[in-house]
Amino acid sequence: MKYAYGAALAEARGRTLSLVAPVSERNLNRQPHPLMSPLVWDLGHIAAFEDLWLCRSAGDLELLRPELSEVYDATETPRAGRGDVPYLRREEALEFMQQVHERALLLLERADISPDGDRLNASGFVWEMLIGHEQQHNETMLQTLQLVGPDVYSPTRRPLPPAPPKRGPHTVEVPGGPFFMGDPGLVFAYDNERPRHEVHVNAFRIDRTPVTNAAFLEFVADEGYARRDLWDPVGWTWRMSEGVERPLFWSADGCERRFERVGEIDPDMPVMHVSWFEADAFARWRGARLPTEEEWEKAAAWDPDTGESRRRPWGDGDPAPHLANLDQVSFGPAPAGAFPAGVSACGVLGMVGDAWEWTASRFTGYEGFAAFPYPQYSEAFFGGDFRVLRGGSWATGPSNARNTFRNWDHPQRRQIFAGLRCAEDIP
Ligand code: AVJ
Ligand code: FE
Repeated sequence: MKYAYGAALAEARGRTLSLVAPVSERNLNRQPHPLMSPLVWDLGHIAAFEDLWLCRSAGDLELLRPELSEVYDATETPRAGRGDVPYLRREEALEFMQQVHERALLLLERADISPDGDRLNASGFVWEMLIGHEQQHNETMLQTLQLVGPDVYSPTRRPLPPAPPKRGPHTVEVPGGPFFMGDPGLVFAYDNERPRHEVHVNAFRIDRTPVTNAAFLEFVADEGYARRDLWDPVGWTWRMSEGVERPLFWSADGCERRFERVGEIDPDMPVMHVSWFEADAFARWRGARLPTEEEWEKAAAWDPDTGESRRRPWGDGDPAPHLANLDQVSFGPAPAGAFPAGVSACGVLGMVGDAWEWTASRFTGYEGFAAFPYPQYSEAFFGGDFRVLRGGSWATGPSNARNTFRNWDHPQRRQIFAGLRCAEDIP
């Protein structure tokens, strides 16, 4: 297991470095949006987080650069201010990352990661947390690289499966009744996924695949962006003040940009780069609604034959290329429905990978929630305007791809790789 942790940390670090290697100093230091950090902040933050959790909290070492902790604390230095703080520039940040990484790997050799280790090391908790953290920041960095413009980053794309030849029924019916929601506590999970609890969910219908660009184009063509009755009142104010008329990175002439490439909007792909407000309006236009978190998780995890909840849509096994589009394989989504082998027990496709899916739910703690290892990871965000996203995107690392994983973001956020699927009541 220690070998696997070391390898996963090294792999994530390789990604981080390869993401910034081709980026100019100017683009690295630029804050492209008030909700996004400059890329160079992510670098120092990744190292400071590793030093704080692996070296100081779990390893009892002194912080390597205590004077930097405030600058790289996501709560002390919220995103809007990350353009102006005195963070390390590229070369200094890379050196800091390397120094911390070396001492962390030495600590791994003597850490007790058995279930009887101290609370942070027990069953490898803090090591898995750090792997997941760097993978999450790799995704954030890709959002920034996409946002800064077409001449900043040109990824090497590997091929994905083609569009499925035949479409099945449009929606899947999930019977009413209880299911187990949340993480059972056997392997790593974040505090916000726990505790596992039984939830009753009324029968509902859910889209078999994510909403496609073709469907979203119909919403645009049907004046969906001009019909106030379709929008949440706060969303309408946002849509008017920002002048939003189509998903981010779409142009009026029917093209979309992905990193350096501009091409015609592909009708088969899941729609991406829509805010919660746009997702919510689309669902209303379709005569449907966004699924709640409970509905989403039941459709992904619940096995009607056993009554148990699975860790991933296809079962308990790890992600693999034929099951889901994760882990930056092709730097974009695959056509909706392209992974028949990744189907959930309820018969729903594409629940994990391709694009995050907005849900109707606000981010709160489950009954019995206990902050661990620190309240700023999740608890600090409970009760705000954050909406929960589920499932992970093409950019999500395998460590963060599971049915119970909860992502959250502001309802106006569009830079993230997020789309939706709809749900409906069964009368
Ligand atoms: C779960 C994506 C909302 O980026 O604020 C990164 C993940 N937490 N570092 C965020 C996270 C600490 C978090 N999100
Ligand atoms: Fe972080």
